[in-house]
Amino acid sequence: MRQAILFALGLAIGAIATANITSALRQRDAYPRGLMNVMQHDLGTLRATARAQRCDAQAEASLDQLRGLAGGIETAVYGEDPPDPPFAEYARRLRAAIPSAIECVNLAPAADRMGAACDSCHREYR
Ligand code: HEC
Repeated sequence: MRQAILFALGLAIGAIATANITSALRQRDAYPRGLMNVMQHDLGTLRATARAQRCDAQAEASLDQLRGLAGGIETAVYGEDPPDPPFAEYARRLRAAIPSAIECVNLAPAADRMGAACDSCHREYR
């Protein structure tokens, strides 16, 4: 009887610990993944804008937001720790690929350059 109770207790403690660890891991990833998904959304808006040749305020806002978010990639992924130098370089290249202002004629190639900058980091780090 005592053994059965100890066994059940062990199972319960194990289950609680697993749930805690899983939730901690999910929370740790929530920030970088959220940042990445919003950047993805903004890049999608810019691609659609380029296709439709409609450089309106919404497109401008997406560009601004993308620029802002790209500035926080290292912090989102590494927190307080210094990022891997190649990682920081990929982040820097993405920032360099983001135009400082929206220009309809140049938006499609700019979106391609930004997308390529995302992909080159993902090939190594994702
Ligand atoms: C300097 C490196 C780097 C750059 C640049 C970068 N990413 Fe990421 N990306 C990552 C890493 C690392 C992950 C994995 C994050 C995780 O799962 O915790 C990731 C994951 C993602 C994901 C999946 C998120 C999820 O829900 O699992 C998407 C979408 C994404 N990135 C979009 C983008 C877009 C769009 C850009 C360019 C505008 C971009 N990324 C630029 C490093 C980068």
